[in-house]
Amino acid sequence: MAVAEAPPQKVELIRAELARVESLLADSAVSSVEILQEAALHILSSGGKRLRPQLVLLVSQLLAGDPERAVPVAAACELVHTATLVHDDIVDESDSRRGKRAVRFFFGNSAAVLMGDYLVVQAFKLLARDPDRRLWPLLADVIAQMCEGEVLQIAVRGDTSIPLPTYELIISSKTARLMSLCCRFGALVAGADGVRAQAAADFGYHLGMAFQVQDDVLDYLGVEPELGKPVGTDLRERKVTLPVLLALRDSPLVVREELAAYFSGSESLRAGDVGRVVELIQAAGGFAKARAHAQEHLAFAERAIGLLPTGPARVTLEALADSAVNRTR
Ligand code: IPE
Ligand code: IPE
Ligand code: MG
Ligand code: MG
Repeated sequence: MAVAEAPPQKVELIRAELARVESLLADSAVSSVEILQEAALHILSSGGKRLRPQLVLLVSQLLAGDPERAVPVAAACELVHTATLVHDDIVDESDSRRGKRAVRFFFGNSAAVLMGDYLVVQAFKLLARDPDRRLWPLLADVIAQMCEGEVLQIAVRGDTSIPLPTYELIISSKTARLMSLCCRFGALVAGADGVRAQAAADFGYHLGMAFQVQDDVLDYLGVEPELGKPVGTDLRERKVTLPVLLALRDSPLVVREELAAYFSGSESLRAGDVGRVVELIQAAGGFAKARAHAQEHLAFAERAIGLLPTGPARVTLEALADSAVNRTR
C-alpha cells in the first residue's frame, strides 16, 4: 500500500524507486497495537517533501548504484526524519505538521514519543538488510548528534548573545548531518570510493545548512497553509535563529534591546508580537542577510557536487539544492 502521492519535485528519474520507498514506509508503520499503527500512518501519509530519500536515490543513481540497495536505505532515512518531526513537535509544543494536526495533538505526547522511537527502530531494521556494515554506526552517530543539537537548542533558548558558530552547530547537528548522511549513503550503496562519498556528503551537508536557514526564514515569513506548519513558532519557543542574530548584530542598541526582550521574556506572546519582531528583523536586513548566508552554503554544495560525474541525476540534485533556498514550503 502506498501511503502518499508522489512528491511534487523533479523526481521523474526516480519515480519507481520513490513508489517503492512509500510502500516500505507503509510496511514500517505496521503494528498489532492499533494506536501505534494509526499514529505512524497519520504522519507517514500526510505527505512531506521526501527530500531525504530523494537524496539517497539520486546520488546512488548518479554513481550507477543498484536501486535494490538504495531503496531500503532511502526509506530508513525518511523514517528517521519522520521520527524527529514527531519528537520535534512535542519539544516545540506545535500542533500542526505537514498541513495536518501533529501526531501529538491526536494521540498525546506519550504515544507520540514512543511511536517516534518505533520508527527509528524500523529504520535500523531496514538498514540491516544492506550488506555494508558501516551504515548502522554512521546512522547511530547522526541520530546522537541530532539529539545533541535539539538539546543544545533548548539550553540556549532565549539567549540573544549566542555566537554564530553556536547557531551553526545547532542547525548542522539537527538538520544538515542527516542530509549529508543521506548523500553519503547513496554513494556507499553505489560502491563509491572515499573521495566521491565525501564529495556527496559535503554536498548534502551544505544543502542541509541552506535548507535549515531557509526554514528559519520561513518561520517568520512563510504562509501557513503553504508551509503546513505554524509560523512564529521559533519566537514562541524563544529560538534565536539566524535572521534574528544577524538583525541583532547590525542594529542600534535601542533596537537590540527591544528585540532581545521578546526572546528573553518568559510570558506568553501577545497579538502583534510576531509582526513587530518581523518588522525589526526586516528593518535590520536580517532576512536578506540570512538568505545570503544560505546562498553561500548553496555555492559550497555546488562546488562539492562538481566533483561527481555529470548526468541527469546530478542536474536533479542541483535543482534540489536550489530549491532548498528558493522554496516556500
Ligand atoms: C522539516 O523538514 C524539518 C527541518 C529540517 C527544517 P522538511 O521541510 O524536509 O519536512 P517535510 O518532510 O517536507 O515535512
Ligand atoms: C528542525 O528544526 C528540527 C528537526 C530536524 C526535526 P525546526 O524545529 O525548525 O523544524 P520545524 O520548523 O518544526 O519543521
Ligand atoms: Mg519545530
Ligand atoms: Mg522551523
